[in-house]
Amino acid sequence: MTDDSAAHIAIGIDIGGTGIKGAIVNTSTGELLSARIKLDTPEGGKPKDIVETVEKILKSLPDAPADAPIGVCFPAVVQNGKTMSAANVSKKWIGLEAEKLFETSLKRDITFVNDADAAGYAEVRFGAAKGKNGLIIMTTLGTGIGTAIIYNGVLIPNAELGHIQIDGVDYETKASYAAKERDDLNWVQWAARLQTYYAELEKLLWPDLFIVGGGVSKSYEEFLPKISINTAMVPATLRNNAGILGAATLALEPKVLAGANTIAG
Ligand code: BGC
Repeated sequence: MTDDSAAHIAIGIDIGGTGIKGAIVNTSTGELLSARIKLDTPEGGKPKDIVETVEKILKSLPDAPADAPIGVCFPAVVQNGKTMSAANVSKKWIGLEAEKLFETSLKRDITFVNDADAAGYAEVRFGAAKGKNGLIIMTTLGTGIGTAIIYNGVLIPNAELGHIQIDGVDYETKASYAAKERDDLNWVQWAARLQTYYAELEKLLWPDLFIVGGGVSKSYEEFLPKISINTAMVPATLRNNAGILGAATLALEPKVLAGANTIAG
């Protein structure tokens, strides 16, 4: 049975380095209640252009209840609503009061979080991490490498393990899906880089499980079996919708992130 009562409905917006997606979500079941709207991330990824694109997406969701909470996830460290980094978007985001910028433009409250944290939380609530204890590291392989650390179902926000340096190189630039495309790597060549990456994470953090997400995780059979480490690895179950689902859910459950966002403030 589905539960569509208004109290569980929220809008999730997932801002990425290449695309911005949004949908209406039933946050009690993890179902999308609308089509997923996707627009290209504006060239340069500047704040004003991204906010305008998000406005367009919201206008394309006419069936959303007027007061539905909005969760927005973004590819940067987010502390107290401020974006503190900008690996694959304009540097103008660094130190910006991003949550306030969106709230002013959209004229409503929003919840603003890191994209991998949103995806990881969605996997906790609805996907591959549901009901699992221990230390789980969710990785999203896309334009960058996003990571979320989850311990006994609790999200530890703003882990930036995509930027771990291996041989003096920020390894996101070698092992992201964008790097595979840029360097025209076949699955075997890319899996060799992923092997290096996951072996390093394993050595540093000793997780119980890696969840591998991002759009490319739909092709997990091509690369996951080629990675040989001790830690179990599974594909994310929510794929490209994880960010939308997590952002929408966190909009209704802001306490999940309250610790990180109050201590720093
Ligand atoms: C950013 C992270 C983000 C990830 C995935 C990285 O470059 O530093 O904050 O989660 O890309 O978008």
